Amino acid sequence: MKQNHTTPETFLGVGYTRDRAGLPLEAVRVPVPRPAADQVLVRVAASSLNPLEYKLADLNFMGRTPPVVLGLDLSGVVVAAGPGVDRVAAGDAVAAMADLNGDGGWVAADGGEAGYAVARQFLTVRKPPSLSFRDAAVLPMAFLSAFAGLYGAVRAGDTVYIPGGGGGVGHLAVQMAARVLAAGMVISSGSRPESIALARRCGAHHVFDYRRDDLSAEIAKLTGGRGVDLVFDATYSERSFVETSKTVRRGGRWAVLGVGPGRTTRLAETHSPVAAVLAERGATYVNVNLLRYFSEPATLDGEARDFLRRGMDLAMEWAARGLVVPHVGRTIDSTVAAISEGLKSLKAGGAAPGKVAVIVDRDLAGEG
Ligand SMILES: NC(=O)c1ccc[n+]([C@@H]2O[C@H](COP(=O)([O-])OP(=O)(O)OC[C@H]3O[C@@H](n4cnc5c(N)ncnc54)[C@H](OP(=O)(O)O)[C@@H]3O)[C@@H](O)[C@H]2O)c1
Repeated sequence: MKQNHTTPETFLGVGYTRDRAGLPLEAVRVPVPRPAADQVLVRVAASSLNPLEYKLADLNFMGRTPPVVLGLDLSGVVVAAGPGVDRVAAGDAVAAMADLNGDGGWVAADGGEAGYAVARQFLTVRKPPSLSFRDAAVLPMAFLSAFAGLYGAVRAGDTVYIPGGGGGVGHLAVQMAARVLAAGMVISSGSRPESIALARRCGAHHVFDYRRDDLSAEIAKLTGGRGVDLVFDATYSERSFVETSKTVRRGGRWAVLGVGPGRTTRLAETHSPVAAVLAERGATYVNVNLLRYFSEPATLDGEARDFLRRGMDLAMEWAARGLVVPHVGRTIDSTVAAISEGLKSLKAGGAAPGKVAVIVDRDLAGEG
């Protein structure tokens, strides 16, 4: 294993120290992890906020023993690599997603320390020089989610409905459908003027206000009463699931990100009409779930790894080519207070549209 000798033994991470501790997060001193055979150790330049992080702090549903350091989206520089790693090497600038059942790389950077995290090589990719560390860091989790929902599912000319096109996953999904996968019509929705505007800028042809407009009626009008070929619903909202399931055409496809209808609280299962609505239309119901690969590791087989590796490669390639470009609505420092406040606002639905970037190391990220 190549090891950078300046790497410290410990760092002051940001995460939770008690089961179901919730927000605010805390600073916690943890050992710098050592990369296993197929892992790299990344000195972190930047990261981003994902709803998963407040959910883990609230519910600890991956069954971890605290302390848990959060910050699962990563960009930075490889400082050490396990012996099985041949895709990247020490010194490379990379983007990566840490295992979703492992630790991340947020550091209480106001203490002047660097943050470190390990990532597996199939979830690590070289960062193109034209892409900033900040922009590379907001892509992994949100891009892979959109990729898993749409890639191989959208055919050229399809009519696609992606609710929440101003969200972290949604704004990338809209661009992917409209600019790469050649969907014929992309429909989206939002409630806040800034997220509606972002969905439009991302290439959605029609964007509705889900609080005000009658989505089913509007989509019926746009599709001549037929319905859309495909829905990709990454809103985690039961209300949205019920509404979007009614917009799929007969024999179409309804893909949902995460645990799906009836289970959005994770605490209780409730009755959901979605499966019946889809069955009545003969539509295919697909669950897309990155978390499942980590909560049920048997699902992370060779095919799944290849798919995720391809997703990480295309995240960088499409961003560098200006096809699927991350929108950073807000950039914050990696401090306990700023991250906790950012997650609180994400939880309340009031975060900036697109993604919130976290600058972990100003010098390394070139954001000084
Ligand atoms: N399991 C997995 O693999 C996985 C992976 C990634 C993300 N996720 C989950 O997916 C969800 C979305 O993540 P994100 O990062 O995109 O979150 P986000 O940035 O907070 O975006 C959520 C979006 O949903 C929109 N929305 C909320 N209710 C809606 C409704 N009824 N109809 C239409 N749009 C609605 C919001 O629009 P307005 O703000 O305009 O209201 C916002 O644009 C989160 O719950 C996250 O935990 C799961």
